[in-house]
Amino acid sequence: MATDMRSLVDSSRGMVNRNIFLEPEIYQQEMEQIFARCWLYLCHDTQIAKPGDFFSTYMGEDPVVVTRDASGKINAFLNVCRHRGNRVCRADSGNASAFVCAYHGWTYGTDGKLIAVPSLKEAYYDELDTSKWGLVPVAQIDSYCGLIFATFDPTAPPLKEYLGGMAWYLDNFFGRRENGVEVIGGTNKWVVPSNWKFPAENFGGDVYHVPWTHLSAVRTGFSGAATVRPDFTGNLISPGNGHCIIAIGPDDLTDPPVDVISQYERDIHSEVRERLGPRMDLTKPIVGTLFPNFSFNRSTSRVLRVWHPRGPEQVEIYSWAFVEKDAPPEVKEALRLTAIRGFSPSGTFDQDDMDNWQECTQTCRGVMSRQVPVNLQMGLGHEGFNEEFKAWASDYRTSESNHRAFYHRWAEVMSEDGWENL
Ligand code: FES
Ligand SMILES: [Fe+2]
Repeated sequence: MATDMRSLVDSSRGMVNRNIFLEPEIYQQEMEQIFARCWLYLCHDTQIAKPGDFFSTYMGEDPVVVTRDASGKINAFLNVCRHRGNRVCRADSGNASAFVCAYHGWTYGTDGKLIAVPSLKEAYYDELDTSKWGLVPVAQIDSYCGLIFATFDPTAPPLKEYLGGMAWYLDNFFGRRENGVEVIGGTNKWVVPSNWKFPAENFGGDVYHVPWTHLSAVRTGFSGAATVRPDFTGNLISPGNGHCIIAIGPDDLTDPPVDVISQYERDIHSEVRERLGPRMDLTKPIVGTLFPNFSFNRSTSRVLRVWHPRGPEQVEIYSWAFVEKDAPPEVKEALRLTAIRGFSPSGTFDQDDMDNWQECTQTCRGVMSRQVPVNLQMGLGHEGFNEEFKAWASDYRTSESNHRAFYHRWAEVMSEDGWENL
């Protein structure tokens, strides 16, 4: 039975107990209640485009390998050898006909089946039933807009239901054009001494920090973020299930300040309008977090990323640049560069953000500091269900309404053992 975490998160008063960022028992409960049950992002369809392609990632702290098998089917397995538990696939990504364990040579097909065991006849007397010792598959796998998700929980609701009202907002990032998006370049991976929730909540709703934390980027003209301009409009939108969206007004500009990108956006505007419908005239989603740890940004850069938990005080970031498949090569290249310059280990924005997340985490170590709750009271009472957005939303462009929704959901998922009341 999960410990009730609702006493640590008071979303009605906008207060969060800081033990949730440090206590090892709470972290362990997160692994079991959140990361072993929720739908988690694995990789993009275009990263495993051909039969035999694979991609190594994690679901929580569980290593997972995502494959496209010979039949073209997408699978995900625990990347754990069924013999003694060695991590089988050590490459980040690639193309393979089989995975051979480095320890004793058990070999698995890209469909997860155990296809070879050294000395099967002699040492095992042919008595090992290889059909029972394939790689362990995830319980459910599905995709939306080419984004591949999986859950370890067979009782979790289908992906579509889990996304709920978030689906339309995802379309704004990944479904603006008929052929969708592709991931370009490699994966940026790095470890930051921060609890995983700080970046997740930041991408989910922290408009407040942009003109302050990122002042240098703003002053040098690097940022095209509308959220640094004095007259921008917008809302923090919570489409349900803990998912969070930062949105600006439909006419606020937000693209990276690069001519080819601005021109491209003007060129595709009517096509995008046709696909997304009239709701696009009401709001422009620019950054978001899909609960619990998948975030995306199409503001100053086009990036998507996962915040992999690595203990209470560490997060490993996997980050990629994405572009529309049908964008011209010069636009793709310009977007690749803005992603690296803005959102990567050396990116201007990440450099600013990491420092703050690190200190927010490390001050939790002090026994006195830890007793000071986090204040998430901005805009409390100035929010509600917005018929136009079909979602809970703040009245003003800057608010902590999404933070409250995120932690409210966090406490619910941490406390409820089944999905009936979630
Ligand atoms: S641990 Fe993999 S073959 Fe022994
Ligand atoms: Fe930031």
